[in-house]
Amino acid sequence: MTKNPPLLTQQEIYEQFKIKYSQYSPDFELLIKAGQVEKLNRLVREKNAVILKHNYMSWDLQCDEVLGIRGDSLELSRKAGETEADIILFLGVKFMAETAKVLNPKKTVLIPSLKAGCSLSSSIAGTDVRKLKQMFPGIPVVAYVNTDADTKSEVDVCCASGNASKVVQWAMKEWKTNKVIFLPDKFLAQNVAREMGADIFFPNVSADATTTTKEFALRTKHIAPKTPIFIGWEGKCEVHEKFTPEDVDGLRHDFPGVYIMAHPECPPEVVKKVDFAGSTGEMIKNVTSPDVQDRQVAFFTECAMVEILAAQHKNVLQVCSIQKRCPHMAQNNLETVIEALEKMQYKITVPEDLRKKAELPIRRMIAVK
Ligand code: 13P
Ligand code: SF4
Repeated sequence: MTKNPPLLTQQEIYEQFKIKYSQYSPDFELLIKAGQVEKLNRLVREKNAVILKHNYMSWDLQCDEVLGIRGDSLELSRKAGETEADIILFLGVKFMAETAKVLNPKKTVLIPSLKAGCSLSSSIAGTDVRKLKQMFPGIPVVAYVNTDADTKSEVDVCCASGNASKVVQWAMKEWKTNKVIFLPDKFLAQNVAREMGADIFFPNVSADATTTTKEFALRTKHIAPKTPIFIGWEGKCEVHEKFTPEDVDGLRHDFPGVYIMAHPECPPEVVKKVDFAGSTGEMIKNVTSPDVQDRQVAFFTECAMVEILAAQHKNVLQVCSIQKRCPHMAQNNLETVIEALEKMQYKITVPEDLRKKAELPIRRMIAVK
């Protein structure tokens, strides 16, 4: 058995914080945070837990001094399925913790706050998917991983922002069709459709099935036979929907030569104007790519990620006027995270019938590379 390295003391963590993060907190606060991190790491060891940290965590959770694994939704789903720890403490939002529970049901999965929802996952439910499947029979259903287990249990395959177009292509090939139902993110669907040269149709969900299928037939009648066709849903990320093309123009005006990256949950008018669009993990990786070199870099995404990147790379701009914080991700902080392990709260449960049905679409997502 490999022996765990000794844990950092409060003083050692504080020294690191002073070097790396003194721009974010005054000295006395860095010392307090260092004490909290020491306590958290001790709890992680004692309880044989693993912390999975989404890239949108604040710097004091994302930092290397907090034991755990950082990543985007796709990477963390993979890690959740593989871990041998007894407890998975998910620093993210509820749909992510649920995905972990579906993949690794014997583990205790904890989330620091039950208020950590997501405007995308709450925009749709399993009943909506059943309705769409009745309207468009035989068309594969791809659901963004930002959905709850009830929705996932009704779909054919899930995708993350890091593999969305590959999953769509996989589904079209498997089902031998040029059509796909892509839920629930309107902008991600439009961005992936644009990348694939596809047409996209948003059904009127309050209309009856006959009217909707007639509208769809009319709309797609003149489309060239092999053109991919997406059927979308009107869900939006409450953070990324706020970015505008004018923000891109303003940034380029103020920082000539700036390299801009955006998350594909942003409106297509924004994504079209930037230099790179990708998942949080892809954007982070791209900061050090040859395309960027010494250029200044700006992000159109959740601001906590930008904050820590700015501390790590001097060419990353911390442009505050266009930064947005996700209120759900912000439910995670050192206090709620420590309390989660101390009190073993809040335990994620997924009814076994739903879990079994949701597992296949998630496993298919993980398998598509
Ligand atoms: P990724 O980390 O997969 O890019 O997801 C972003 C997001 O909004 C998660 O809620
Ligand atoms: Fe949901 Fe957007 Fe928050 Fe991600 S950033 S959890 S997509 S609301």
